[in-house]
Amino acid sequence: MINIPKGTKDVLPSQSHLWQFVEETARKTAELFSFKEIRTPVFEHTELFLRGVGDTTDIVTKEMYTFLDKGNRSITLKPEGTAGVARSFIENGMAGGVLPAKMYYLIPAFRYERPQAGRLREFHQFGVELYGASGAQADAEVIILADIFLKKLGLKQVKLQINSIGCKECRAAYHAALKEYFRPHLEEMCPDCNARFEKNPMRIIDCKDERCRKITAGAPRILDYLCPDCASHFDEVKTLLTEAGIAYEINPSIVRGLDYYSRTVFEFVTSAAGAQGTVCGGGRYDSLLEQMGEKSVPAVGFAAGMERLLMVMEAENAPMPPMSAPTCYFAGMDAPSRQKAFSLATELRKAGISCEVDLMNRSIKAQFKYADKVGANYVAVIGGNELLEGAAQVKNMKDSTSEKVKFEELAQYLFKD
Ligand code: HAM
Repeated sequence: MINIPKGTKDVLPSQSHLWQFVEETARKTAELFSFKEIRTPVFEHTELFLRGVGDTTDIVTKEMYTFLDKGNRSITLKPEGTAGVARSFIENGMAGGVLPAKMYYLIPAFRYERPQAGRLREFHQFGVELYGASGAQADAEVIILADIFLKKLGLKQVKLQINSIGCKECRAAYHAALKEYFRPHLEEMCPDCNARFEKNPMRIIDCKDERCRKITAGAPRILDYLCPDCASHFDEVKTLLTEAGIAYEINPSIVRGLDYYSRTVFEFVTSAAGAQGTVCGGGRYDSLLEQMGEKSVPAVGFAAGMERLLMVMEAENAPMPPMSAPTCYFAGMDAPSRQKAFSLATELRKAGISCEVDLMNRSIKAQFKYADKVGANYVAVIGGNELLEGAAQVKNMKDSTSEKVKFEELAQYLFKD
């Protein structure tokens, strides 16, 4: 037998309604804020992610699904959604269109990571990106959107953590301070952090290696290095969140695993479902377009991991929608009645009533058993007598009452349910 690739998962028919519920909640919340859906390709030129996500990130250095296509082009399955949306924003001249441009997406994303609960190689994201607004209200708007989304999913234990990683100017002073702090410890630190020290010392703050984490605990904090503009931007974001009634914690160790961020960064975290506690992450990324060789346009956004959301919903016992069930199951006793059952089911389906009919040539008892299993609200039984009378015996499966209903009145009868 050929098994599913490591780090991927099937969404089975018994689970897909839960996915649909989360997706539907995502769409509705995004549209509450007038975000419109954008769909970009599953793969892009590798160069986009080298420039867009950043060549010192774990994603780019270790985790990308990159291959040469038959035309010898280097192609990468998207590891996240922001870079593809940025490419589309530029390519479609959206900077010259209506601003702010507000977009959302529901995508699969691919990262070659060590799989564990909540960490997959193919996973799914709901993300939003807002282009064109540099003020703190835009940061607050996307954070509030994420907060409403998570609350609509019934999550109560998820906490918002925020930080500011400043702009290029404040980060230059911060990088210098970090280098001074880490230099005497380099020999005790992991090889990755030794490379990060040269290329992007802030990445060290994010290292998961126990040796590095101990050293990082005493490192200088970016918040002490913010320039006056970045500090007042951060103050304004905090005020807006407080005014919106959103609780937050300041976590100076959030630096995010992607290179494009500046100023506000945030994560929604929980310990309800094990080690992979970050269900949503994002921030402002005013210099991404510039990094890609374009005129800069301020932007802010986030992405939430669908698999992690579903795990946390289960762990928190959040109310889950039931699986959909047919309104009526048509049971036929003999060949002519089965034929009538089939044609009635077709007629009612055309009228918009969900129906099921026996396709397995089962006995009447087995048909009832099946109707019960799929949760049909009614079973309409047709036999010789019913054919003669032109009426079905309709059983209400909830209260076990039965009624004769004329074939031509079935739609009206079932619609009232
Ligand atoms: P990210 O923090 O890399 O940010 O991913 C966002 C979310 O995707 C995470 O919080 C997590 O829930 C989920 N996620 C990430 N990796 C995995 C994985 N291997 N398995 C399962 N879930 C995962 C971004 O992707 C940015 N593009 C977010 C953003 C949008 N920033 C601005 N705009």
